[in-house]
This record gives sequence, structure tokens and C-alpha cells, in this order.
Amino acid sequence: MTNNSIIALFMLVLPMHSLAGTIDTTGQAPYEQCGYCHEYDGNSLMPSYPRLAGQTSEYISKQLRDFRAGKRHGQMQATAELLSDEDIQIVAEYFSSQPVIVRSPEKLTAQQTRVAQQLIQQGDGERNIPACVSCHDKNVEGMKTFPRLAGQHQVYLFEQLIAFRTGERANDDQQQMQQISRALTEQEIRLLASYLASLVTPESERKQSLNGQRGQQDG
Ligand code: HEC
Ligand code: HEC
Repeated sequence: MTNNSIIALFMLVLPMHSLAGTIDTTGQAPYEQCGYCHEYDGNSLMPSYPRLAGQTSEYISKQLRDFRAGKRHGQMQATAELLSDEDIQIVAEYFSSQPVIVRSPEKLTAQQTRVAQQLIQQGDGERNIPACVSCHDKNVEGMKTFPRLAGQHQVYLFEQLIAFRTGERANDDQQQMQQISRALTEQEIRLLASYLASLVTPESERKQSLNGQRGQQDG
């Protein structure tokens, strides 16, 4: 690598990751290393890296434990194996309290919006598809181990639904998502992913994370 390319690399990396400061990880909070892929505020820029901002802390913890135990596969396994139970709790609470920032979501036609909303709010009884809101909460912002879908990357949502469908991802209890994704057509999956990615309600996700984490306390 030439000096110029090293400098170019630093210029690329530093502004985005300036919090990391040095390569030495001693003394870093456990969530700092996550920023390389998920961004420090959890609003990842790369479409197949899920946003963690505003995700429920229970869901983040469950996924990290699943990756660590080898029940869910992929790039995250290596990272998750290094996390202690305490680290998992810290990172889960940290990311769930970050606000969701959605940049320029895809625009859908009125017809596409209607089809997506129908599936999300009502499902399709004839095909045994329950309404997404019956588990993912009324604004699809997640609840406990049911993940937030609103504002997640379209590409990531699409990839996960396909992974459930093929059984490549099989860490869902009682195979709920595997069954639902198999009942949907690929076109519906694509549409749902686009619609869900475009949803964001900025005020509510803070309350969501506060409820999730501090449900026991008053105020
Ligand atoms: C090298 C890149 C990379 C790093 C570093 C990384 N992740 Fe990930 N993470 C991914 C990718 C890619 C996925 C999704 C794809 C998959 O299923 O493997 C993912 C998925 C996740 C998920 C599942 C989210 C969901 O919606 O299901 C969680 C939770 C998560 N990461 C948390 C973390 C935390 C916490 C850290 C830091 C301790 C971290 N990640 C570090 C790349 C990374
Ligand atoms: C019966 C409850 C239930 C219903 C109904 C349901 N889901 Fe899920 N969904 C889950 C659970 C539980 C998970 C998390 C599984 C796990 O632990 O990994 C999940 C995960 C997902 C994920 C992965 C999210 C991520 O961050 O990785 C997507 C995407 C998803 N659901 C989409 C949908 C859509 C779209 C619908 C409606 C067509 C729907 N779900 C209906 C229970 C449900």
C-alpha cells in the first residue's frame, strides 16, 4: 500500500469512526467495536447490516446469545463469541436507546402501500398469515423479543425473510417466522420489506426503549 492510499483510507475511516480513536481496544465500551459495521449510533449505513438503533433490548440480547450459541449463523458469530453476558446487556441497552434515523426511504405507489398495510394490519386468514402487528406491536416497532421492523433496511428485511423461508435462519422459537415467510410470495416479501423500511415515527422509539428497559421504575 502506498502512503497516499494509507492516508486515503484513514480519511475514509476517521470521520465515521472517530470515537474509536485508536486500534487498542482496552478500556473501550463493548459497543464501540460494533460501530465499524452498525455505526456508533446503531443507524448502520450499509443495507445488509441491520440497524440496531431503537431495536428492543430483549431482541438484541436474544440475537447475540443465539449467534454466540451457534443457533444463528453469519458474520456476527465471531463478534458474539467474544461477548460476556454483561457485555450483551450493556450493548443491548446502549443501542436500544439510540434514536432511529431513516435516510431517504423508497417511495411506494398507493396500491403497493395498500397491499403492504393489509398484510401488516390484518394478515391473510385464507393463507394462514397472521397480522404482523399481532406480534411486532401495533406500529411494528417491536416489543420484548419481537423485533422492531419499522425503519429497518429494506435489503436486510428482505434477506432475513428469505433466510427464514429457506430455513437458513431457524432461530425463531416455534418456527413462527419460518411458517409465515413460506406463506408469503417473494413479491409480497419484497413489498413488505420496502414498506417497513419506509416507516419511522421519531418520537415513539425513545419511549419504546425506555419502557423496555426501565419498565419497573416510575417516571
Ligand atoms: C464485521 C461487521 C460486524 C460487526 C463488527 C458487528 N456486527 Fe452485528 N451484524 C453484522 C451483520 C452482517 C449482521 C446481519 C447478518 C447476519 O445475520 O449475519 C449483524 C447482525 C446483528 C444483530 C441482529 C440484528 C437483527 O435485527 O436481527 C445484532 C443484535 C448485532 N448484529 C449486534 C452487534 C453488536 C452488539 C456488535 C458489537 C459487539 C456487532 N453487532 C458487531 C455485522 C457486524
Ligand atoms: C406469531 C408472531 C409473529 C408474527 C405474526 C410475525 N412475526 Fe416476524 N418475527 C417474530 C419473532 C418472534 C421474530 C424473531 C425471531 C428470533 O428470535 O430470531 C420475528 C422476526 C422477524 C423478522 C427479522 C427481523 C430482524 O431484525 O432480523 C422479520 C423481517 C419479520 N419478523 C417480519 C414479519 C412480517 C413481515 C410479518 C407479517 C407478515 C411478521 N413478521 C409476523 C414473530 C412474528
